[in-house]
Amino acid sequence: MNDKYMDTTDYVFKGPTIKDGALIGCNATILPALTIGIDSVIGAGAVVTKVVPDRQIWVGNPAKYLKDVPKERWLENRIKT
Ligand SMILES: CC(C)(COP(=O)(O)OP(=O)(O)OC[C@H]1O[C@@H](n2cnc3c(N)ncnc32)[C@H](O)[C@@H]1OP(=O)(O)O)[C@@H](O)C(=O)NCCC(=O)NCCS
Repeated sequence: MNDKYMDTTDYVFKGPTIKDGALIGCNATILPALTIGIDSVIGAGAVVTKVVPDRQIWVGNPAKYLKDVPKERWLENRIKT
């Protein structure tokens, strides 16, 4: 989503920033200009209204911190060489 106030002409549209390794569940909504941190996980159906730091799992509406992402689920550990 990129238009926070909808139907306004003076708002500078800005979409979310999804950092490397972040995973977004089904039907999650991320409000404009927010960042989802490295390797973070957004649960299905979440409504993200705040910046999500690196390597955290957030769920719910409004989305809240659930727990840290286990090290074995970090991108560097998911890539098979
Ligand atoms: C966020 C997620 C990764 C957490 O998985 P998990 O670590 O195994 O978490 P658990 O199932 O143990 O749940 C832990 C708690 O969070 C809650 N929870 C889990 N996912 C939730 C969600 N999406 N929204 C709200 N609450 C959620 C559980 O109800 C549980 O609450 P409780 O402690 O009060 O009982 C997973 O539930 C999820 O939403 N995955 C996305 C799946 C998806 O969209 N797949 C398709 C896209 S490719």
